[in-house]
Amino acid sequence: MIKPHGSDTLNPLYVKDDKARAALLKEAEGLPSLVVCSAAAANAVMMAGGYFNPLTGYMNKADALGAAEKMVTASGVFFPVPILNMVEDASSIQGAKRIALKDPNVEGNPILAVMDVDAIETFTDDEMKMMTDKIFRTDDMEHPGVKAFNSVGKTAISGPIQVLNFSYFDKEFPETFRTAYQIREEMEKLGWEKVVAFQTRNPMHLAHEELCRMAYHAVKADGILVHMLLGKLKEGDIPADVRDACIRVMAEKYFEPNTVLITGYGFDMLYAGPREAVLHALFRQNTGCTHLIVGRDHAGVGDYYGPFDAQTIFDEVPKGAMDIEIFNADHTAWSKKLNKVVMMRDVPDHTKDDFILLSGTKVRAMLSEGTAPPKEFSRPEVSKILITYYQGLEEKPEIKMGKHSG
Ligand code: ADX
Repeated sequence: MIKPHGSDTLNPLYVKDDKARAALLKEAEGLPSLVVCSAAAANAVMMAGGYFNPLTGYMNKADALGAAEKMVTASGVFFPVPILNMVEDASSIQGAKRIALKDPNVEGNPILAVMDVDAIETFTDDEMKMMTDKIFRTDDMEHPGVKAFNSVGKTAISGPIQVLNFSYFDKEFPETFRTAYQIREEMEKLGWEKVVAFQTRNPMHLAHEELCRMAYHAVKADGILVHMLLGKLKEGDIPADVRDACIRVMAEKYFEPNTVLITGYGFDMLYAGPREAVLHALFRQNTGCTHLIVGRDHAGVGDYYGPFDAQTIFDEVPKGAMDIEIFNADHTAWSKKLNKVVMMRDVPDHTKDDFILLSGTKVRAMLSEGTAPPKEFSRPEVSKILITYYQGLEEKPEIKMGKHSG
């Protein structure tokens, strides 16, 4: 099986041993504590599951600046985005060597992790701007990722962590939430060596389903890992439980038996386009996948990124920095001429009118009215779930950032 990123074996930061975890929780209850921001909590959950191997905790300022500027930390680890615990005000834990981190996303703010505080450092405005520009390629506060990154304070608390639970993810998505080490174990059991990962934050329409199949055949894979984001999204995006139901009904009925694992991970979407694609590749390697599909406008939002920027960024990844390979996909859609889903680069004779192309805005409008998109666009079972969801919304979401024309 492919090695994890940055080490020979995976080092998840969840304390697996029940006794050790109970003892740690007891200790944590007596420590100075802090309710962290949602992004920091998601970072802890990702580290707990081994997804951010080889990190042992939150980055310090030098490591974060290095990750933002050149995708390499000051200590020499390839990492495409800073992994931070940012706060507005660290005065409540000033002087403490060991602290408890509390979960902002679970009622009562239970303790999520215990942290050894190595440093408390504040970024200057210029440093915040440099990081924002590098990670998001914009500093526009209308960009949901830019806004989130710049709304949680400028002070970073860094140091190693030990994680006590997986926040709300394992409770809310027991069938779907999986750690990187659970996925590795499962794939090992299945005897899968070559595995294609599909990142998604949307329900899967026919083009996505076919994209997975195309990649699976092209690289002669043993299996496909559908790996959906279960954390926070921007307004207007479809909630994880609805997407999960859509993906499961599609996979059960239409994927060849024993070729696909439906799983999810607990992270808030960054909408960082190219940089997030590199992060996606890194953490899929940690799950044991050998390939990641990167298609059109991967992890993008609005018009902030070119449709294939998330592919070309991999030219900037130093050779040997990661072992996972990228399956670059062109825009994929139903061809009326060939009666099947195709990648546009494979049909140079086609014009725009030869494809069934529906904008995200149009699809949402149809579903809200109770109309299923054509079966060449979406499986009827998937449309049915989405219609129920959209019709149940009291207020139809204003779609400001329509994307994904399928
Ligand atoms: S993402 O933000 O998680 O990337 P989404 O779930 O819509 O969004 O996309 C999942 C993956 O499918 C990404 O790699 C994206 O580039 C790819 N993708 C989505 N739609 C298409 C399409 N029509 N053609 C090619 N690739 C696509």
